[in-house]
Amino acid sequence: MTTGRRLVHDPEGLNSAPWPIRQDELLTSTDCFFTRSHAATPTIDAQTWRLEVEGLVERPLRLSLDDLAGLPRREVPATLVCAGLRRDEYYAIGPLPGELPWGPEPISTGCWSGVALASVLQQAGVKREARFVEFIGLDSVERHGHRFGFGGSIDIEKALGPDVLLAAELNGAPLPPDHGFPLRAVVPGWIGARSVKWLGRVNVTTEPSQNYFQTKAYRVQYEVNHRDPRDVSAGTALSEVPLNAVILEPTRDQAVAAGRVRVWGWAMGSGGRALTVVEVSPNGGSEWQRAEIAVPGSAWTWSLWEATLDLPRGRHMLAVRASDTSGATQPAAVWDTWNVKGYANNAWHRVPVQAE
Ligand code: MTE
Repeated sequence: MTTGRRLVHDPEGLNSAPWPIRQDELLTSTDCFFTRSHAATPTIDAQTWRLEVEGLVERPLRLSLDDLAGLPRREVPATLVCAGLRRDEYYAIGPLPGELPWGPEPISTGCWSGVALASVLQQAGVKREARFVEFIGLDSVERHGHRFGFGGSIDIEKALGPDVLLAAELNGAPLPPDHGFPLRAVVPGWIGARSVKWLGRVNVTTEPSQNYFQTKAYRVQYEVNHRDPRDVSAGTALSEVPLNAVILEPTRDQAVAAGRVRVWGWAMGSGGRALTVVEVSPNGGSEWQRAEIAVPGSAWTWSLWEATLDLPRGRHMLAVRASDTSGATQPAAVWDTWNVKGYANNAWHRVPVQAE
């Protein structure tokens, strides 16, 4: 369903994203930011809300928003990417029952501010045996007859870095309810699922989170378990968002005037790495030409690229691919990245167009 400039993927409107994305939106405006929620937005009273910090720490903490405001303020621009981005391209291989049919739209870039998770962990005193930091939200998700808060974990090395935030603001204003008011984790460069909204608890542990969304979902598994075809518990938990590039214009099956056609989109390196090149192809990947980075982003954000292609009358398959400073480039086809729940598709993005 499309309402205004938004694609809405469920009857409750919990999962929606702006479409089309515009080229003047290196930073996504807050009202356009995509939403991905597994249950209704909880109502939280900021006066009585507290963040519990517990587990393998010397001094467990119970922090109010005022306590957090007393810590050094940190601001980080970061692009959030849902792991289901571009899942719809996998449907050429077969159905993915029970999964949201996201295209290239569940991605947005915000300027997040709050405090570094590392400042809070330093105050609590992390014990030497700590390996993971778990985040638990205050929403109430139901799976297989159980109700629990959405959660997940990140490695202690990432957690102690300067850029993982406990964010109270998006684009200079308090977080809107749907984006995690009053506080959320923001884990730049990692799949959106680890940026837990409506944060209630930070738990320092020796093992990854046992939360459903760490052990049973957001895992890449290539082999189907035929006894339970949706089970991915034997797969690998997703963490860093892979290198990716997308054509935003022209859009799929768009009719364009034959001749010089302007093509643009976004690209982002993995793990905060800079892009080294973005290339576009007028013929599905047989020939490539360099695109220009028209609007450069920063370490944890997308950049917007553009190129002009010569397209004679007829049908053309445009494609884009990027490389980053790790030396990696993108896999050519969705067959190379297909997995049981359809996550992390970073194959060359192909868009058929008709030049008239
Ligand atoms: N946190 C909670 N508590 N509940 C959720 O359902 N969804 C996650 C993450 N944090 C989720 C959550 C997923 S899958 C994504 S992609 C991002 O939030 C989306 O953040 P946004 O809705 O602010 O865009």
